[in-house]
Amino acid sequence: MNFLTWSGILTALLAVFSASASALQLDVNSTQSLKDAATTTAVNLFCNSTISGAVNPVYGDDDQAFNASVLEAWLYSILIPFWNATGNDTYNDMIRTRLYSKIDTELSTSWVDDGNGDSNINHAAWALAAVTAAEFGFPGNTSTQWEVLAGNAAGTMQSLWAFAQTCSGGLIFSQQNTSFKDAFSNGEYFQLSSRLAYLTHGNDQGTYSTSAATVWDWSVTNQLVNETDWTMNFVTMNSTNGQNCTAGPNQMLWTYQYGLYMSGAAYMYEVTGIKEWKTRAEGLLNKSIELFFKKRVMVEGGWILGNSAEVGGYYIDDNTEYSFRGLFITCLVSVARLIPETVDTIVPLLETTAKAAAKQCSGTANSTVCGSDWTDPVYDLNPSFFTSMSALSLFTANLRLDRTAGNKTTTNGTSTSGSTSGSSSGSGSGSSSLSGGDIAGIVVGSVAGVALIAAAAFFIWRKMKKQPAQPVAEEQKPVTDNTTDSKGKFPSAELDQQAASVAELAPGGGAYNYPEMDGGPLPENVAQELPATRTIRYELDAS
Ligand SMILES: *[C@@H]1O[C@H](CO)[C@@H](O)[C@H](O)[C@H]1NC(C)=O
Ligand SMILES: *[C@@H]1O[C@H](CO)[C@@H](O)[C@H](O)[C@H]1NC(C)=O
Ligand SMILES: *[C@@H]1O[C@H](CO)[C@@H](O)[C@H](O)[C@H]1NC(C)=O
Ligand SMILES: *[C@@H]1O[C@H](CO)[C@@H](O)[C@H](O)[C@H]1NC(C)=O
Ligand SMILES: *[C@@H]1O[C@H](CO)[C@@H](O)[C@H](O)[C@H]1NC(C)=O
Ligand SMILES: *[C@@H]1O[C@H](CO)[C@@H](O)[C@H](O)[C@H]1NC(C)=O
Ligand SMILES: *[C@@H]1O[C@H](CO)[C@@H](O)[C@H](O)[C@H]1NC(C)=O
Ligand SMILES: *[C@@H]1O[C@H](CO)[C@@H](O)[C@H](O)[C@H]1NC(C)=O
Ligand SMILES: *[C@@H]1O[C@H](CO)[C@@H](O)[C@H](O)[C@H]1NC(C)=O
Ligand SMILES: *[C@@H]1O[C@H](CO)[C@@H](O)[C@H](O)[C@H]1NC(C)=O
Ligand SMILES: *[C@@H]1O[C@H](CO)[C@@H](O)[C@H](O)[C@H]1NC(C)=O
Ligand SMILES: *[C@@H]1O[C@H](CO)[C@@H](O)[C@H](O)[C@H]1NC(C)=O
Repeated sequence: MNFLTWSGILTALLAVFSASASALQLDVNSTQSLKDAATTTAVNLFCNSTISGAVNPVYGDDDQAFNASVLEAWLYSILIPFWNATGNDTYNDMIRTRLYSKIDTELSTSWVDDGNGDSNINHAAWALAAVTAAEFGFPGNTSTQWEVLAGNAAGTMQSLWAFAQTCSGGLIFSQQNTSFKDAFSNGEYFQLSSRLAYLTHGNDQGTYSTSAATVWDWSVTNQLVNETDWTMNFVTMNSTNGQNCTAGPNQMLWTYQYGLYMSGAAYMYEVTGIKEWKTRAEGLLNKSIELFFKKRVMVEGGWILGNSAEVGGYYIDDNTEYSFRGLFITCLVSVARLIPETVDTIVPLLETTAKAAAKQCSGTANSTVCGSDWTDPVYDLNPSFFTSMSALSLFTANLRLDRTAGNKTTTNGTSTSGSTSGSSSGSGSGSSSLSGGDIAGIVVGSVAGVALIAAAAFFIWRKMKKQPAQPVAEEQKPVTDNTTDSKGKFPSAELDQQAASVAELAPGGGAYNYPEMDGGPLPENVAQELPATRTIRYELDAS
């Protein structure tokens, strides 16, 4: 055997070893390295999806709350920043087409609970994708502003809220139990309102700010958020005879629920300048760090085991739940950008997590596929669309944070409110009875005494949702139950050549009907009165 052969073998062996150590070869100080990691992860993510007019990109479990549609919408809140941070517009046509396909449904002024399994979580997820597009100046039809579409959805949520029959408000989790209200539906609505407040001016800003404050206060009163120790509960229900609900059983501890409330509070701080919002954002940030980082690497929470004090740990029962960290990361980036004092806390954690994740993302023959547990430096054989989604968000987040500046600051990359300016024409934010005219200051304050009056709301009993399974005792670290969830249904990589192609959807496509709407007026958006007490006047940011 000659030297060339030996050297060839040696080179090959070295390549294998270095690849399996960290195939993504991530250098968090290198923009190009982060871009490469993000791009490779995007490729792998789309290997587990198909995009067409009829099929969602994610093979999710159709009768679960986090179904294919929800995941698709959540994905766009990650892919739009990916485009912005890398300049790679491969997926833009697809994103645009898919968002526009929801114009007559999720992003319309007349969204109804159509009895076909749609949910507030799904509805709000699409609205958040639209508001993300607005923030990043995502290219779309100039005639159809993303901000207006997101506002349409916010308007219908406000109507639903006003007509809630239990807990004095709140968005329900599913029709199975209409007093069962969760931190995702309500947190998404809270964050949506705060982001729309951030993007808008004048009366619209006042309306959205008031909505956000309403949801926050309600969430505290009904025990979703504890302002004393900054813990959260996932559900609240009317287990007493009082009008307020109390935290329900089967509690879950997800990163995303903290992220939604934390970042929404940060947006509200930026909008109002009220210190209390900063306290809230920081309270939830600190608690999140305590709960969701092990040795400075991010972990998901999970179902809290019934006797968690004894066995410790959490239980992850569905692979879709591995997408939550990616969403939580987008929230962390927002907080870092909106509250500069948090940058020195958040950025290093995202860096250590990215380094750790790059090691986990070393699966299959090409050593780039991401498993699920970022604390494990060895590929854990648990890849999925959802783990790729979170890793993609993680690498993108590191790109969006400037690591070169001495005093770490965040890069620009959210507000383009100028280009989607606060025109209220056609806006779902609706008219408000705040003082008319184009005022430079708006009134925000206690929501006490605010009357929310909706002209129409539609409550239709939905199909029964699958009741979450009772958690099973397990050990310290998150585990998956591969026997009962639907992951087995996920077709593997080779399934669709058209992964990145543009969806062909009939305009307004979708299996929605609005029988209640026939012959009747479209729902008016919500009017509201001025808060009666504790008002605070502030000047709008000139920029
Ligand atoms: C990245 O940059 C930081 C600060 O400049 C430095 O401390 C660190 O060693 C660098 N890391 C790598 C892997 O180059
Ligand atoms: C853009 O992303 C696609 C898919 O993720 C990838 O195939 C392509 O190489 C990327 N382009 C560049 C210039 O990185
Ligand atoms: C998932 O959400 C979509 C949203 O459109 C809804 O229509 C569908 O019925 C939901 N779930 C399924 C497929 O159960
Ligand atoms: C966007 O523009 C294209 C081309 O002008 C048009 O065909 C399409 O209907 C528009 N879509 C929306 C939602 O406005
Ligand atoms: C909030 O947290 C504090 C401190 O842990 C606790 O005493 C209080 O009971 C909690 N409130 C609710 C409603 O759970
Ligand atoms: C919860 O609210 C519903 C609707 O108002 C009511 O029928 C039910 O009795 C309440 N449950 C409790 C335990 O109060
Ligand atoms: C609901 O909670 C609020 C805030 O804690 C309290 O002021 C109000 O009295 C409660 N209402 C009922 C009916 O218990
Ligand atoms: C870094 O930024 C923070 C927040 O704006 C500021 O308080 C701090 O003084 C800055 N530090 C330096 C060294 O500039
Ligand atoms: C796609 O997900 C399935 C399981 O859901 C997994 O077996 C497969 O390896 C994944 N492929 C990639 C490229 O991540
Ligand atoms: C963001 O961009 C605006 C306008 O381009 C600029 O005035 C501002 O200084 C930038 N902020 C940061 C943190 O780069
Ligand atoms: C990213 O967003 C910022 C702010 O909206 C914008 O200035 C920049 O051009 C965007 N980047 C790309 C590649 O579009
Ligand atoms: C890596 O391998 C998986 C199959 O295991 C494949 O689906 C994926 O496309 C590959 N990724 C890249 C970047 O080649």
